[in-house]
Amino acid sequence: MTEPSATFLLFGATGDLAHRMIFPSLYNLLADGLLPDDFLIIASGRSEFTDEAFRADIDKALQKFLGPERYDADMAGRLRAMIVYQSVEAGNAGQFKALGERLDGRLDKGVSVYLSTPPSLFAPTAQGLAEAGLITPRTRIAMEKPIGKDLASSKEVNDGIGALFAEDQIFRVDHYLGKETVQNLLALRFGNVMFEPLWNATAIDHVQITVGETVGLEGRVSYYDGVGALRDMVQNHVLQILSIIAMEPPARMDPTAVRDEKVKALRSLRPMTAETVKTHSVRGQYTPGAVGGQIVTGYADELGRPSDTETFVALKAHIDNWRWQGVPFYLRTGKRMPTRQSEILIQFKPVRHSIFGRNGGSGLEPNTLIIRLQPEEYIRLLIMSKRPGLERDVHLEEVTLDVSLTAAFAGQRRRIAYERLILDLLAGDATLFVRRDEVEAQWTWIDSIIDGWKEAGVKPSSYSSGNWGPSSAIALIERDGASWND
Ligand code: BG6
Repeated sequence: MTEPSATFLLFGATGDLAHRMIFPSLYNLLADGLLPDDFLIIASGRSEFTDEAFRADIDKALQKFLGPERYDADMAGRLRAMIVYQSVEAGNAGQFKALGERLDGRLDKGVSVYLSTPPSLFAPTAQGLAEAGLITPRTRIAMEKPIGKDLASSKEVNDGIGALFAEDQIFRVDHYLGKETVQNLLALRFGNVMFEPLWNATAIDHVQITVGETVGLEGRVSYYDGVGALRDMVQNHVLQILSIIAMEPPARMDPTAVRDEKVKALRSLRPMTAETVKTHSVRGQYTPGAVGGQIVTGYADELGRPSDTETFVALKAHIDNWRWQGVPFYLRTGKRMPTRQSEILIQFKPVRHSIFGRNGGSGLEPNTLIIRLQPEEYIRLLIMSKRPGLERDVHLEEVTLDVSLTAAFAGQRRRIAYERLILDLLAGDATLFVRRDEVEAQWTWIDSIIDGWKEAGVKPSSYSSGNWGPSSAIALIERDGASWND
């Protein structure tokens, strides 16, 4: 690995993500002593700002998003002193030249460019940098999602960037990979001896992945409508979680080994068809209801017109390889769910033979492993135990081995996912970023679902806000004799 980049060049610096996540993350990295001494942050956006006015704006954002407990005026002052602002609009050569002046003498020390802009600006921005002579072998470029809206358009985005940067200079962000709990899946699987031998179709009945959100559109109408939950959440975050759960053990924790295994798992997803989407997928859209005691409006009301965009999706996926043959992966994600809850559930198979007779046998349940990613972070293993007592027949009852990660690591600050990602970007470690072939494998599977929906005419069914999707989502899993863990 090379020296960390000495410059962070952020496009889209006036946007919401920059204010909520990126600057607070930079603050935290600085406070933890993790930024190089001569670090420079060049913030860039279309609007005009003086350095001073932009710094003042960031200060407000830091106070708001770090909160009074974390915000320290001296530290914020140190961060502000590292920031300069340069207004740049794609296509404006003069502004890229001015940017070049800001970068004078710094290109050799490495520049990490971060594109937090709409995807339509990715290629023009990279082009502007190239034309101004600002790309060197020590330049890296990070991009936020969405990368395309299907396989074909994702290829266009990747080709546009790929014409100017080598793949190992490109860092595609999926912020779920920056979450400690998602990284902890690797630790759980490969840092313990007891799970891996059972992590296959012999012992596992099915897997559930739920990413539930209570929020609705949150003013993101222009982005979200026509995109929907499948593209917004499943194509990236849910499939990243699935690939880490499903992949073979990588030989080592490095970008090539880890991503080679993830892409193999993604490529093994069985494509859907117009026939299978009818039984293996559910689309939903929220109508008015109540979430956490608050009355909320429906999607179409927020939008101001009817729409065919899904705000909920449930899928029954299959991974056609040796390890997972016959093990369904039930996936679901949605907005306006009853709780914000992301978790993975591994349902093991029953023991082969019960020695406990009829009573004990009737209490005998298969083991379940629940990995809660958010809001709480815990791992629970439901196991069978003997109920104390003198009855002749052994009575079994389910008890929980419960590890609260928050409690186990009390005193550790809960980090913003972007802290890890920005630090890795600066250091040039792409393990937690998405490689081009992964994105393409993700879109290949997602396209099969979208095509299936189109061909079969599958439209979203409505669900009242505050429910776990339409009733057909419950039927999707119960038909197989299982149930969602609500
Ligand atoms: C984003 C989606 O990628 O992830 C949003 O575009 C979603 O729609 C968000 O709300 C969820 O992220 P988190 O970290 O809050 O679970």
